[in-house]
This record gives sequence, structure tokens and C-alpha cells, in this order.
Amino acid sequence: MNTHKGLILDETVKYHQDLQEERPFVPGTTEIWPAGAVLDEADRAALVEAAVDMRIAAGPSSRTFESRFARKLGHRKAHLTNSGSSANLLALSAFTSHLLEDRRLLPGDEVITVAAGFPTTVNPIIQNGLIPVFIDVELGTYNTTAARATAAIGPRTRAIMIAHALGNPFEVAEIAQLAEEHDLYLIEDNCDAVGSTYDGKLTGSFGDIATVSFYPAHHLSMGEGGCVLTSNLALARIVESLRDWGRDCWCEPGETNKCLKRFKYQMGTLPEGYDHKYIFSHIGYNLKATDIQAALGLSQLDKLDRFCEARRRNWKRLREGLDGVPHLVLPEATVRSDPSWFGFALTVDPDAPFTRAALVDFLEGRKIGTRRLFAGNLTRHPAYLNRPYRVVGELTNSDIITDQTFWIGVYPALTEEMLDYVIASVKEFVGAGS
Ligand SMILES: Cc1ncc(COP(=O)(O)O)c(C=O)c1O
Repeated sequence: MNTHKGLILDETVKYHQDLQEERPFVPGTTEIWPAGAVLDEADRAALVEAAVDMRIAAGPSSRTFESRFARKLGHRKAHLTNSGSSANLLALSAFTSHLLEDRRLLPGDEVITVAAGFPTTVNPIIQNGLIPVFIDVELGTYNTTAARATAAIGPRTRAIMIAHALGNPFEVAEIAQLAEEHDLYLIEDNCDAVGSTYDGKLTGSFGDIATVSFYPAHHLSMGEGGCVLTSNLALARIVESLRDWGRDCWCEPGETNKCLKRFKYQMGTLPEGYDHKYIFSHIGYNLKATDIQAALGLSQLDKLDRFCEARRRNWKRLREGLDGVPHLVLPEATVRSDPSWFGFALTVDPDAPFTRAALVDFLEGRKIGTRRLFAGNLTRHPAYLNRPYRVVGELTNSDIITDQTFWIGVYPALTEEMLDYVIASVKEFVGAGS
């Protein structure tokens, strides 16, 4: 390594160490965040190295991240994106590609999804002129069931796109089986569930395609970022085209003529030999991430197993500490799953002698951060009011979630002291003793 660069990286590590002052936990004063990026000196050095090398666009670190992450999650291909939302857009849009011929999704086709969740699991359905079919979820797991999904299948149903709620797997083996029986595509929004397993198998590996987010609240952070994963090479090619402006060519930026046919194609009504680099076979975007993001991702990836372990440990401590507290629905792992938790959801019983708002106010007043279970019932938001969609069954639990549910953190930076303070605070408010 160049001496100047070596010095910069050494100084970066020292700078990081300088910033690590001992900060004792002060109950009620120290912020207990619900989520956040956990970044160490190696992460800081990785970012600085990518910056001093001026790797400002997608490049070799992005490719390395994609192949390491695909291997880690048991897929043949991963495509890095600028967010989890972009990953969802690409994942769903891939099924509208003309390359799938009569298997492609067409406007008016239906996609089963849940009403209580994150908006950008659903938005790609609407964006593509498809119809979301909303079903309810269970309280406690915050996931839907295979039975609910089965009831929602109609003559135009062509796909299922659902997120594993707060890291807790939905009944993904059964829903994958259902998808196979009814010839439906299955898209797993795995943004909140990296490292979770169902029947001992990683979530994100059951469906046709899966997505991940690297926004700071998530298991791995790139600041902003996301990923589309699949083992279907035809789909991977479509995702790449959609992500990279819609182009037909698969040369990396800076590469030319890998196929040795760059000036030999004839496509559309273009003249013979039109430069393949500029032939567009999809209505695409540019949703790539940069090598600066990928460098951070690579450094974070080394710590993924530890992060997932800490999330499981923290969730278990909260779960055991709050067990038996009245008036609260405590979270439950879906049967046969081992979640790599994103958060710890609490639902205040509708007939409790206190409101969710009062409990949340009390916790926030003690610097214990809370978050809503994202949108609650999406169909009640202004953006969805006049959209075409179908609802199957009642959305009773989604409505309860809208009114009564919130979640607190389990992310790796939380200490036992903090978690015990959270437990004691909830018990104090509820009047359950400590
Ligand atoms: C389930 C789910 N899907 C998708 C996303 C979107 O990810 P991003 O914020 O990276 O766009 C999120 C974000 O938190 C999410 O929780």
C-alpha cells in the first residue's frame, strides 16, 4: 500500500479510537435508540479508503459485495441497489419483463400482500399497474398466514409479495408451496430479516426473488443501499437491465465488448450493428449504489453473524423480562422459525386501562425510543385512498396495529443495562412491579 494512504488509514483508525470516550449509561438521560447503524474502526477505514481511492461510482467493491452477499444468503446472484425500496421496485418489475413472454405480469394482474407493513413493499405493485390484494396479519407475529393467502387467490392472482415482519418470518415454506401449486411468483421482502430462518433455512431463499435494505436501521448498513437476490439467472439478467438504465448490454461501466458482438446486434427497429452498449430492452432506471457504499457493506458483512446473534440475545432478554406483564400482547416468533429480529413489537390491549399513546409518551420521556409498526393499515393512508385494490377478509388486526402497536429496539448497540431499564420502565408504567 502507498505510504501516504497507509498513514491516512492508520490515522483514521486512531481518530475513530479518539472518539470512543467512555459514556456511562444514565437512565432517563442516555438515548436508547430503537435502531441504528453499528459502525466500528474498520468501517470508518473502509469508507475512507474508498473515498481516497475516489471509487465514486459502482465498481469492483460493488461486484465483490454482490458475490459475497449472494453466497452468504445462498443465492447465485445479488444486485446492489441504492435502497431497499429500489430493490423492491426492481424485484417486482422484473416479472413484467417481455423476456418472460406469456409468464409476464400484465396490468390488472393481482399481487397478494399484507395491509400492515412498509409502503415500499406495496408501491411497486401499484407502480406497475398491478392490483394489490390486501390481507390481514396476526397480532403477536405481525405476519399473515398461508390460510389467509390461500383465501385471497382469485382468477387474476399472479404473485405474492410480502415482508417478513420485523425480522419474524411469515409461513414462508407453506406460502412458497402455495405459490408453486397456483403458479404464482413469490417475492420475499427480506429487508428486515437478514439471518432469520424458517425450518432451518434462511428467509429470502424460499421465493423466486428476495430483497434486502442496508439503511442504517437494518442488520447491515451502507448508509443507503439495498440488494436484489435470486438464483434464477434469467431474472437476474432482467433485474440488472432494469437497474442499469434498461440497457440490454451486460458489460460493467468501463468495460466494452465482453460479448465480442458489441457492433453485431440488430434489435427493435435499430440499424444493424447499433452499439449494444446503447440498446435498451427494458423501461429501466439507474438504481445502482456506489463503491463507497459497497466498501462499507463489505466491512459490515464481516460482522453480520455477530449482529444477528446480538439481535436474538437482546430480543430474548426483553421477552423474558416482560413475560407476564398484563395488558400487553408480547411478540412471538412464528412457529418453526428462528428470527434475526429487527425490533420488539408491543400491542396494548384495546381494553387496557391505559392507552398506547400514554405508554409511548412515558417511554419517550425516559429517552426510550419507539417506532410504529411502519404504516399500520396502509389502506388508511392518503396515498392509497383512491387506488384500485382488493381486500380479502377484514383488516381487523391491521387496524388494531394502527391504533395500538409500537416497537422498541433490539439492535446490537443496546446494552443489558439499557434493556433492563426498558423492561423496568414498561413494568413501572403498567404497574406490574419489577
Ligand atoms: C420491510 C421493508 N421493506 C422495504 C424497506 C425499504 O428499505 P429502504 O429504506 O432501504 O428503502 C424497509 C425499510 O425500512 C422495510 O422495513
